[in-house]
Amino acid sequence: MDILALNSQQQRNNRGPACMTINVPDTPELKEFYTRLPAQNLAPLWTVLSSLITPTPQSRCLPAVWHYKQIRPIIMESGELITAMQAERRVLILENPGLPGESRITESLYAGLQLILPEEIAPAHRHTQSALRFIVEGSGAYTAVDGEKTIMEEGDFVITPSWTWHDHGNESNLPMVWLDGLDIPLVKSIDASFFEKYPDDVFPQTRPEGDALARYGSGLLPEGYDEISKTSPVFNYPYSRTRDALDRMRITDKWDSCHGLKSRYVNPVTGDYAMPTMATNMQLLPKGFETEKYRSTDATVFSVTEGSGCSRVGETKLKWSRRDTFVVPSWVEVQHFATEDSYLFSFSDRPVQEKLGLWRELRGD
Ligand SMILES: [Fe+2]
Repeated sequence: MDILALNSQQQRNNRGPACMTINVPDTPELKEFYTRLPAQNLAPLWTVLSSLITPTPQSRCLPAVWHYKQIRPIIMESGELITAMQAERRVLILENPGLPGESRITESLYAGLQLILPEEIAPAHRHTQSALRFIVEGSGAYTAVDGEKTIMEEGDFVITPSWTWHDHGNESNLPMVWLDGLDIPLVKSIDASFFEKYPDDVFPQTRPEGDALARYGSGLLPEGYDEISKTSPVFNYPYSRTRDALDRMRITDKWDSCHGLKSRYVNPVTGDYAMPTMATNMQLLPKGFETEKYRSTDATVFSVTEGSGCSRVGETKLKWSRRDTFVVPSWVEVQHFATEDSYLFSFSDRPVQEKLGLWRELRGD
């Protein structure tokens, strides 16, 4: 991991107005008063108020990049040490350096790189956490969701909705690695985690491969279709279609000064985000493009599908190229520079923030 991070105090100093100042007296009587509070499960708000309610987001999350070339040998080494079956899911967590030991890449989201080797199966289970897979390397492994398999290719965005049975398998002769993104910390913060293992390793297949994409991803909805899930019924968005869409837009559309060309993955039934807790996007930055300064409250994880460049994230400069993952914390100013045509996948907790009326952005200075 390559990170040129400032310490957290320096980061805070660079992000806007200082915390609210409260002049708390420091009398012997107050000190003695404080000593009696814990026994009653009480605490004085006035000593912690300025750290609880800050003028701007003061995230512990730091800008960071994981260079795939650097970490791939470690991922492959894990494949020699433990099987997918033994591990349940053989994943190396991308831990934010500002949140060590907390299994999270941002305050609200988890990310990891999962390896599945030829002929391996990652057994069927389900959980209330929603999961996305973004395929980083390989071709031909599958994810099965509630009885339908989808074969995955590099750049595909695949969804495992909350509380759906899912298993993974690799019927190709090459390893496959994908980026997992889950709302684990978010679900943990509201204590809504449930998990169940399926009695067999594989959930029975009940629909032909490609059924969901054909049925729901063709600009059609079967008459009488009733929405039964908050998540898109299209659970594999193939990269070939995504890239084609951006390449066609490129011919006629204006470049957005902060995002280049950026499209969101949507639920075709509702027009809302494809997943209820995570926004997912693909954007194109053409060679030589430099984005304007931008910040938003949704800390964002990027996966470089194609291309190379660098991003200035606050005072930190992150260089990136194909298959790298990098993270931009909440309300830290970011500018991207593409040294070649670059396609960036990204995800964040923006749908949650929007539904709570909390999401903000700032374009330019
Ligand atoms: Fe899972």
